[in-house]
Amino acid sequence: MTDTMIPSLHVQASGSGAPVLLIHGFPFTSRMWHPQLHGLADAGRILAPDLPGFGNSPAAPTHSVDALAHACMAVLDAQGISEPAVVGGLSMGGYIALAIARLYPQRLRGLMLLSTRAGADGAEAKANRDKAITTAQEQGPAPAGEGMFPKLLAPGNYDAQPQTAEELKAIMAGATTGGVVMALTAMRDRPDSTPLLSSISVPTLVVHGEEDQVIPKGEAEAMAAAIPNSQLQLIPNAGHVPNLEQAEKFNEAVRKFLST
Ligand code: MLT
Repeated sequence: MTDTMIPSLHVQASGSGAPVLLIHGFPFTSRMWHPQLHGLADAGRILAPDLPGFGNSPAAPTHSVDALAHACMAVLDAQGISEPAVVGGLSMGGYIALAIARLYPQRLRGLMLLSTRAGADGAEAKANRDKAITTAQEQGPAPAGEGMFPKLLAPGNYDAQPQTAEELKAIMAGATTGGVVMALTAMRDRPDSTPLLSSISVPTLVVHGEEDQVIPKGEAEAMAAAIPNSQLQLIPNAGHVPNLEQAEKFNEAVRKFLST
C-alpha cells in the first residue's frame, strides 16, 4: 500500500489493474477504506482520496458535491487514468458518486452506492446541518463525530466489535473544522439525484447494512429498484459502515461485482 501526494487530494492506493475509486463518508477519512485497500488489492487498483479538510488533504474552498465530484475525478487524472473507472461512495461519498454519474457518465465503468440515498435534504435536515455548522465553527470538529457515533454501528456491534468502535473514533479524529463545515454545507445543498437514477446505464452495486441507523435500508431498496442495471446487497449484522463491520462479506460483494 502506498501513500501518494497529488496536487489536490491526498490518496491512499493499493493494487493494480482496473481502477476503483472509493469516496469516504462523513466525518470520516480514507482510513475507513483500510479493509478494502488491504482486502481488495488483488481485485483492482484501489484509490481512496481524503476529501478536502479530512485526513491528509488540506481544506479547500469547495462547498458543493459537484466541486467534490470534480476534485475526485482530478484524482484519476493525476494518476494518469483515462480509462473508465468503477466509482464507489459511502453515504456522503455516495452523494458525490451520484454527482460523478451525472457529470461524468462517460468516465464510469461501474457505480457502487454504499450506505447512501438519492434524495436531497428536507427542511428539517437542512436546519440540522445549519446547527451542526455553527457547532463546528464554535467548538471544532469533534461534536460532529460524537453526535453520529451512537448511530454508526448496528446496535449489537458496539459490544460485539469494540475494536471497530475504536477504529471509527480514530478515523473521525482525522476530520478538521474546515472539512466538517465544507462537507455539511455540500450535503445540505446537494441536489436530489432521484431523477438521475433511471438514466444510469453502467452496472451498479447497491450495498447497505440491514441495521443502518443513519440511512434506512429502504433508501437502498428504492435506488436499486430505480437503477436499471443494478443489484442490491443487504448485509446482516451491519449498520452504517458495513465495510468495517462486515469487511469480509462487504469485500466479497465488491469482488464479485468487479469481476463481472
Ligand atoms: C455520512 O455518513 O456520510 C453522513 O451521515 C451522510 C449524511 O449526513 O447525510
